[in-house]
Amino acid sequence: MTDGHPDPTSQAHSGPLADAVAPEYDDTAIRFLEALWGEGFLSPGGPEEVRRVVADLDFTGRHVLDIGCGSGGITLFLAREYGPAAITGFDVEQPVVDLATRRAAEQGLDAIARFVRGAPGPLPFADQSFDIVFSKDALIHVADKEALFADIFRVLKPGGRFAASDWLTSHDGAPSDAMRTYLAAEGLSFGMASAARYEAAMAQAGFTDIRTVNRNAWYRDVARGELDRLKGPLYAPVAEAVGAAYVEKNIKTWSAMQVVLDSGEHCPTHVFGTRPAA
Ligand SMILES: C[S@@+](CC[C@H](N)C(=O)[O-])C[C@H]1O[C@@H](n2cnc3c(N)ncnc32)[C@H](O)[C@@H]1O
Repeated sequence: MTDGHPDPTSQAHSGPLADAVAPEYDDTAIRFLEALWGEGFLSPGGPEEVRRVVADLDFTGRHVLDIGCGSGGITLFLAREYGPAAITGFDVEQPVVDLATRRAAEQGLDAIARFVRGAPGPLPFADQSFDIVFSKDALIHVADKEALFADIFRVLKPGGRFAASDWLTSHDGAPSDAMRTYLAAEGLSFGMASAARYEAAMAQAGFTDIRTVNRNAWYRDVARGELDRLKGPLYAPVAEAVGAAYVEKNIKTWSAMQVVLDSGEHCPTHVFGTRPAA
């Protein structure tokens, strides 16, 4: 490949994919989340949290995949600061991929970072395409963790590393009433599972060095601050950008989320594994 990027297969879509379903991360959602979490960040923690996830990895000269890249802030941060040969941001929604693509060009990173839209389901990349697969708070959208990890294993080269953050639950039983209330408030296509299920799915796929790190204690406090800012100094500027009703809806969502963060049922978690060398 002249551009250093593995070829996506024909399953990838760079143009309009049958847009039967409205994007969950539309322009309003992007504006709202970036006002809260920073430009290009559709999940909490900023660069500092990303640095924690990738602390054990060497990106230099590597081919990297970022699954569920959103509006591209993290992909571009990794491209700028970690020296990969090439990084591919993959997402299933067009608005985020369009914005990320534009930002890569504006920041002069489009020779290293490119963004691909594809349908949900098997990743549109050939076997053994990547040295590193990264993801930040996106795998929550994929309910079938067993199929997901088999596919991540498939696209990793032997010896390749997986490092991610994701939003997990403390158990795989029926969600509590509080969790049900939170999930209804979010209204997003979440398919949450426990660390035990992630670890079992990864082991079944063939991963070794599997490790999970519960980040509930960190995000519980951060989320409380986010809610305070939303109700306080951020209210007026964000309402100006997305409308007061949207902010009010999200104050309700954050309030419901805080309950399940405080109980520990909602646990942002770092997840690591290695595809053994052949
Ligand atoms: C919470 S956002 C996180 C975005 C980005 N990783 C970040 O941290 O800023 C979740 C992203 O996952 C994407 N997503 C949803 N379902 C997906 C799937 N099946 N495969 C890949 N990405 C998906 C969404 O479109 C969205 O951009």
